[in-house]
Amino acid sequence: MDPVSLESFSKKYKALVEERLREVVGMLETPENLAKAMLYSLEAGGKRIRPLLLFAVIDSFGKNPKDGLDAAAAIEMVHTYSLIHDDLPSMDDDDLRRGKPTNHKVFGEATAILAGDALLTLSFNMLAELPEESVPVNVKLSLIKGLSKASGAAGMVGGQVADMEGEGRQLTLEQLEYIHINKTGKLLEYSIIAGAEIAGATEVQKNLLSKFAYHIGLAFQIRDDILDLEGTEEMIGKPVGSDTENDKSTYPALLGIEGAKEALDHHLRSAKDALLSTDLDVDILSQIADLIGLRNH
Ligand code: IPE
Ligand code: IPE
Ligand code: MG
Ligand code: MG
Ligand code: MG
Repeated sequence: MDPVSLESFSKKYKALVEERLREVVGMLETPENLAKAMLYSLEAGGKRIRPLLLFAVIDSFGKNPKDGLDAAAAIEMVHTYSLIHDDLPSMDDDDLRRGKPTNHKVFGEATAILAGDALLTLSFNMLAELPEESVPVNVKLSLIKGLSKASGAAGMVGGQVADMEGEGRQLTLEQLEYIHINKTGKLLEYSIIAGAEIAGATEVQKNLLSKFAYHIGLAFQIRDDILDLEGTEEMIGKPVGSDTENDKSTYPALLGIEGAKEALDHHLRSAKDALLSTDLDVDILSQIADLIGLRNH
């Protein structure tokens, strides 16, 4: 398929997940200002790369990507909560996200924290309410278990803590890899594995997709680190130089910009090799991999 096919795939499924997010938050019985704060960050834009990966995986099995709509929305909620908290003054202290003032700049710190909490908890509620006709109970339980693991202490939150503790220190490549795999890789991996489970993948297929996910996760965060140095605020919709300012451990800081680019290439190639070893129709997934490596935002 040509690049246009990814474009139309993205357009269609981004619109679907965005509509679902609005709908679910719109139905909540909750203080108006909280719903506003939640929607503000959900609707600020974003590449929706995690939902797209989930949809593309389902598609690669020849199944209907719509079967993963609520799981995709749940993942985007967890991701959005993580960004709201990541930007807080006590964390990366950033004022711009997705091209707009960060949540705490608009709603104040307390509401931003609570909007994040609400998105996180709502995501699990959504999974718990998946109707049995769309997802069998054993798959539903596995989805809930997987999301709790990927986003928690042994996943994203753990990675965020290690990232914080690494500020101002010289880390080994192994320690840096731990940070990247956890703070970013685990939720990306979950998006891929959730899609595989919804599509009814075998263990062998899941293992190969996990390998793809591992490399894509690292490539994604290495690209993020490079963009923090080489991007412009206009391009990435968030401040550049945030990592340097916070004395973060990043791939470019450790390996130099060229070393970081080589590492990115290596992980992209390995990700695509893993894809090619599956028996799936991986066209769109492979195009998403390229997008991740070359992205400018
Ligand atoms: C940014 O994620 C935070 C990282 C995990 C690197 P994205 O680059 O996916 O952000 P959005 O969703 O497109 O804004
Ligand atoms: C954040 O990593 C990862 C999570 C939010 C879990 P970064 O701090 O590098 O993300 P950006 O650059 O602010 O988007
Ligand atoms: Mg951070
Ligand atoms: Mg940050
Ligand atoms: Mg970053």
